[in-house]
Amino acid sequence: MLSAVLCLAAVARAQLTGDFYAGCCPQAGDIVRARVSAVMKAEPRMGASLLRLHFHDCFVNGCDGSVLLDGSDSEKLAAPNMNSARGFEVVDAIKADLEKACPGVVSCADILALAAKYGVQLSGGPGYNVLLGRRDGLVANKSGANSNLPSPFEPIDSIIQKFANVGLNTTTDVVVLSGGHTIGRARCALFSSRLSNCSATSSVDPTLDASLASSLQSLCQGGDGNQTAALDANSADAFDNHYFQNLAAQKGLLASDQGLFSGSGANATKALVQAYSASKERFFCDFGRAMVKMGNISPLTGIGRPDSYQLPGRQ
Ligand code: HEM
Ligand SMILES: *[C@@H]1O[C@H](CO)[C@@H](O)[C@H](O)[C@H]1NC(C)=O
Ligand SMILES: *[C@@H]1O[C@H](CO)[C@@H](O)[C@H](O)[C@H]1NC(C)=O
Ligand SMILES: *[C@@H]1O[C@H](CO)[C@@H](O)[C@H](O)[C@H]1NC(C)=O
Ligand SMILES: *[C@@H]1O[C@H](CO)[C@@H](O)[C@H](O)[C@H]1NC(C)=O
Ligand SMILES: *[C@@H]1O[C@H](CO)[C@@H](O)[C@H](O)[C@H]1NC(C)=O
Repeated sequence: MLSAVLCLAAVARAQLTGDFYAGCCPQAGDIVRARVSAVMKAEPRMGASLLRLHFHDCFVNGCDGSVLLDGSDSEKLAAPNMNSARGFEVVDAIKADLEKACPGVVSCADILALAAKYGVQLSGGPGYNVLLGRRDGLVANKSGANSNLPSPFEPIDSIIQKFANVGLNTTTDVVVLSGGHTIGRARCALFSSRLSNCSATSSVDPTLDASLASSLQSLCQGGDGNQTAALDANSADAFDNHYFQNLAAQKGLLASDQGLFSGSGANATKALVQAYSASKERFFCDFGRAMVKMGNISPLTGIGRPDSYQLPGRQ
């Protein structure tokens, strides 16, 4: 009875809060952390995959869990996710753990936010106060996933515009969140255009370090495009600031990564890359803040929630 009353109190709140499940499921964070930790012991990369799922959820109709929905309009079928987004079975396992402990309480959108947080933290990254209380959406948006998610082939200006479209309006947001690429992998298909016949005058991308280019050429040669390379060649599974140090040494993997440092008109982003490559503390602090901001992208308003936004009870 007491717990039912506390749950209603939580439901009536309009804003995301750090203690949303304190009354109904105080162990929610620990349960997510335990599962993510167990999975990452077997496969460290999964921390990265879970971080990316939360990003891909938030950029399409807000952080509403819609990336998880199946069906003909599934976001899983959109180009940025197909044969690419991973970790769905881990989210299912976490959901099953939570249903055992607190049936019908924790939303899938919140599971994605928590799993991303622990994926980062258990990779050695910063902790941050993840905000909770999201409502799950009931419709997926495949065309929204195709249009809203940034591509590694597009210019930085256009990527910044996509962030602005969801209310992430600063250069800092784009650069610091790109630092998520300090962990995880990317398939050859997404960077091999930098390795040969890159332009009329140059076979290899001139902003790609020659020795990294040659090792990537051997990796990708003759394959079907599905071989993977570390986004941070220096420390693939460690959440640190090597991603930014790599960019300063022309060792970014994706064209969109290297463009933050080397792109034409990249002055503002370049200055931030230099700042983060010099200070892991500053990167960690700004990354945590930007993750909270990204996690607050709402289906109704682009970012943040109006006071009238009511969170319905969980089914
Ligand atoms: C700035 C624009 C971005 C672009 C163009 C981009 C693009 C990509 C691409 C092409 C991949 C590889 C996919 C594959 O191999 O199938 C990837 C992986 C990844 N992205 Fe991004 N991304 C961006 C921003 C972000 C953000 C904001 C985050 C999170 C904060 C993020 C987190 C990740 C992670 C962790 C991986 C590795 C996933 C794994 O190993 O399973 N990315 N991204
Ligand atoms: C899908 O996403 C696009 C781009 O954000 C948006 O304009 C559109 O309204 C969304 N459609 C649905 C059905 O949510
Ligand atoms: C970003 O948007 C918020 C809310 O719309 C606004 O208060 C802030 O000034 C904007 N920041 C920049 C750098 O445009
Ligand atoms: C190299 O790129 C040019 C221009 O994009 C294209 O016309 C040509 O067919 C490409 N060559 C190879 C071998 O891919
Ligand atoms: C990669 O793997 C997927 C799934 O097995 C397959 O459908 C696809 O044809 C492969 N090749 C590329 C270039 O994606
Ligand atoms: C970038 O900085 C250089 C000098 O460092 C300047 O000449 C150039 O105009 C700047 N570009 C932009 C787009 O601000």
